[in-house]
Amino acid sequence: MNPSNRTALVFGGTSGIGLSVSARLAALGAHVVAISRNPERARDQLPSEVGLKACDTRNAEDVEAVFKAHAPVDILVNTATGGERPFGPFAEMDMDAFKGSFDKLWGYANTVRFGLPHLSEAASIVLATGAPAERSLTGQAAFGSVGAAIQAFVLRIAREVAPKRINVVSPGLIDTPMFGPDPALRKQATQPVVDRFLIKRMGTSDEVAQAIEFLILNEYVTGTTINVDGGWLLS
Ligand SMILES: NC(=O)c1ccc[n+]([C@@H]2O[C@H](COP(=O)([O-])OP(=O)(O)OC[C@H]3O[C@@H](n4cnc5c(N)ncnc54)[C@H](OP(=O)(O)O)[C@@H]3O)[C@@H](O)[C@H]2O)c1
Repeated sequence: MNPSNRTALVFGGTSGIGLSVSARLAALGAHVVAISRNPERARDQLPSEVGLKACDTRNAEDVEAVFKAHAPVDILVNTATGGERPFGPFAEMDMDAFKGSFDKLWGYANTVRFGLPHLSEAASIVLATGAPAERSLTGQAAFGSVGAAIQAFVLRIAREVAPKRINVVSPGLIDTPMFGPDPALRKQATQPVVDRFLIKRMGTSDEVAQAIEFLILNEYVTGTTINVDGGWLLS
C-alpha cells in the first residue's frame, strides 16, 4: 500500500511508538489523525498537517464517532496502552488492577469492531502487543496475559476481516514515556533488564514504527506478528 493520500487513524499516536508512526505516515503523504485522551501535548512534536483528536479507546461511542468523521479509513494503527497495567507477583496482585489491564484489549477490540464498517476494502490494521505476551519476566503476568489475548484475538479475526489485513507488532523494551518522562532515568532503571537481551540497549520508538510501516505497506502480510525486541525472546 502506498500511504500517500490515504487516511490513517493512529490511536495512541501522541506518544512513544504511536507518535513515531504518526510522523512516519505523515512523511509518506498520508492524512494522519493522531488520537489519544489528551492529544494536545503532542502538538509541537508532530508536523502541523497531522490532525489531533481526543478519544478514549474504551468508549465505544466515541471510537465509532471518530471513524464516522474520517471514513473511509485506509490505515488503522492502535498502540494505546488503554489503562494501567500492574507489575509484580501475581500472588499479591490487586484483582481489580489485573482486570483493568484488559482495558487495552477492549480498546483494541472497540477500534476494530467499530472501525470495520468504515475501513476501505484494502485497509491495513496494526495492533501492538509486547514481548511478555510470549515470554514474561517475573512480575509481568498482567502485561503478558493481555498481550497474549491481543495476539489470540488477531489470529481469530484475520480470516473474518480479509481482504482487509490485520497484524501485530510486538516490541521489547522501548525507550518511550511509558517508563516515565526522563530519558536518563529510564535508561538507568531499565539497564539491568536490557543487559539480559542479545542487543544490550532499549529499542527506539522509531525502530518499532519502522516495523509497523512494513506491515502497512506490504500487501501480502496478514495474521502475523513482528517482534522488535532486541532478542528478548531468546534471552
Ligand atoms: N515501550 C515499551 O517498552 C513497550 C514494550 C512492549 C509493548 N509496548 C506497547 O506498545 C504500545 C505503545 O507503547 P508506548 O511505549 O509508545 O507508550 P506511551 O508512550 O505511553 O504511549 C501510549 C499512548 O497511548 C495513549 N493512550 C493510553 N490509553 C489510552 C486510551 N484509553 N485511549 C486513547 N489513548 C490512550 C496515550 O495518550 P493519552 O495518555 O493522551 O491517552 C499515548 O498516546 C503500548 O500498547 C504498550 O503496551 C510498549
